[in-house]
Amino acid sequence: MNNNCKVSFKNPKIVNFGKKLLLNLEHNDCSTKPTSQKGILIMKITIKNTPSATLQLLIIPIAKGKNFDKILAAIASTTAVPLDLLKQDFKGNARETHTLYYTDKGKSKRLVLLGLGEKPKFSDILSTFRSFTFSKKAQLPTKVGITFIFENAPKNIDHLLEAAVNGIIVGRYDIGRFKTDEKKDKNFLNSKATVEVIVDKSVSSIAQKAIEKGNHIAETQLQIFDLVNAPSNKKVPQVLADWAIKSGKANGFKVKVLDKKAIVKMGLHGLLAVNRGSEFPPTFIIMEHKPKGVKNPKKVGLVGKGVTFDTGGLSIKPSQNMHYMKSDMGGAAAVMGTMEVAAKMNLPVHLFGIVPATDNSVDALSIKPSDVIGSYSGKTIEIIDTDAEGRLILADGLAYMEKHFSPEIMIDLATLTGSAIRALGTVAGALFSNNDDLAKDLYDCGQTTGERLWRLPIWEDYAAQMKSDVADIKNFSGRPTAGAITAAKFLEFFINQHPKWAHLDIAGMAVADSEYASQKSATGFGIRLLIEFLSKVG
Ligand code: BES
Ligand code: ZN
Ligand code: ZN
Repeated sequence: MNNNCKVSFKNPKIVNFGKKLLLNLEHNDCSTKPTSQKGILIMKITIKNTPSATLQLLIIPIAKGKNFDKILAAIASTTAVPLDLLKQDFKGNARETHTLYYTDKGKSKRLVLLGLGEKPKFSDILSTFRSFTFSKKAQLPTKVGITFIFENAPKNIDHLLEAAVNGIIVGRYDIGRFKTDEKKDKNFLNSKATVEVIVDKSVSSIAQKAIEKGNHIAETQLQIFDLVNAPSNKKVPQVLADWAIKSGKANGFKVKVLDKKAIVKMGLHGLLAVNRGSEFPPTFIIMEHKPKGVKNPKKVGLVGKGVTFDTGGLSIKPSQNMHYMKSDMGGAAAVMGTMEVAAKMNLPVHLFGIVPATDNSVDALSIKPSDVIGSYSGKTIEIIDTDAEGRLILADGLAYMEKHFSPEIMIDLATLTGSAIRALGTVAGALFSNNDDLAKDLYDCGQTTGERLWRLPIWEDYAAQMKSDVADIKNFSGRPTAGAITAAKFLEFFINQHPKWAHLDIAGMAVADSEYASQKSATGFGIRLLIEFLSKVG
């Protein structure tokens, strides 16, 4: 994470301007290293058919509904607590917890009933477990069990288990990476913490798979949280590239990084234009996962917006919420995280990922409104607003993806517009597609995973608004209306009429309020959604 010091010297601009060298050293202040380099909080999760005698705490998740009374009766008889009182004190509401103590063969035991509410969805189970672990992580013992043997194992136990495991793992996340106080890795935060999942023998193998999936996704999400939450002075474009290289090596997918020289040679003018005002050279990250043992897998291409900080450029943003623009690489994070999980799970799809990465900064060299730039596709772009920078780098990413890899399906993800947030709030990402089947599949995956999408139109009527008088297209319509749609129309201009493309504007979803922080923080949005989609696409 903290190799920015090395990185800055790769920028030729630094050699030319003494003053900037000073500035860079400040930016790359190596005295503010993250206090914890742990990154992933690894946890052992095992399947059992009966609880181990050494378990220090057993969690029983209970949804409201038809088995509720039966489960409570079984618990009352096991613990010898009066059933009528238990019924009064525990209703199974979402996130409700109730602790019971009892003795079994002379040993003290502790049970926690965890309410899941009525007909809990995947996201409800996940967030219940996540907030339970997060709020209790300091007190929870090292050996925790979850049981589904009290007739509370529903038909979709795989779903339930995956969500529970995911929630428990990400519930241990600590956002305070730069705090100087000593890390408390006691009890459940200890690297020796284990979770035992107790299920009936008949579902052991389904449970094993679900746990593995939950584990894979959660471990990647933890890293993605760190990446998205990292401030821009710890996250220059080379840091994203280094993350991809390291992950590729560890998980077995290919990574090639184009540096500034190669980007110039390749003619990625959209990326270079946004990078003009930056102290740090851009990177263009190309990833590939080729599944083992699969004949003719479908080719899918993912492109993610990797703006490591968006000041708006000369069309500068107001300062009030500008700090959130460190997460303007949420699309890139989703793509990189998906590559990692796809490789870990050997998903049967030939997957390509592209991340153009740069910050969007203010400088004498920055692009200016009215400038006309080129792009990788050869098309010219009139800059109306330098804050509409994401679409410039995505235009190059999409054109490159289409030209070099010709995937059957192409999906881009980006924190692209405030307009998408105004339309859908922080409840769903905006989905745009030129293909109804793809749109439906993505929408359905959003419903299953809780990473929801809602489709908006990309009718030709909107294209007229992006026409430029002087160039092939302009980067902003100049109107305060339909901003997310016109941005999508801009991107569509660069896909070379690819028949199966989708654009996900995740501006409202990449960061959210959560138990982790008082400010909005990373969600990892997109990874679970894309993994679900890719699992079904083959
Ligand atoms: N990164 C922003 C979009 C954004 C806004 C993401 C808020 C997350 C939260 C993007 O680059 C941007 O500035 N978009 C402009 C486009 C406009 C100038 C055409 C916007 O949406 O205001
Ligand atoms: Zn912007
Ligand atoms: Zn942006």
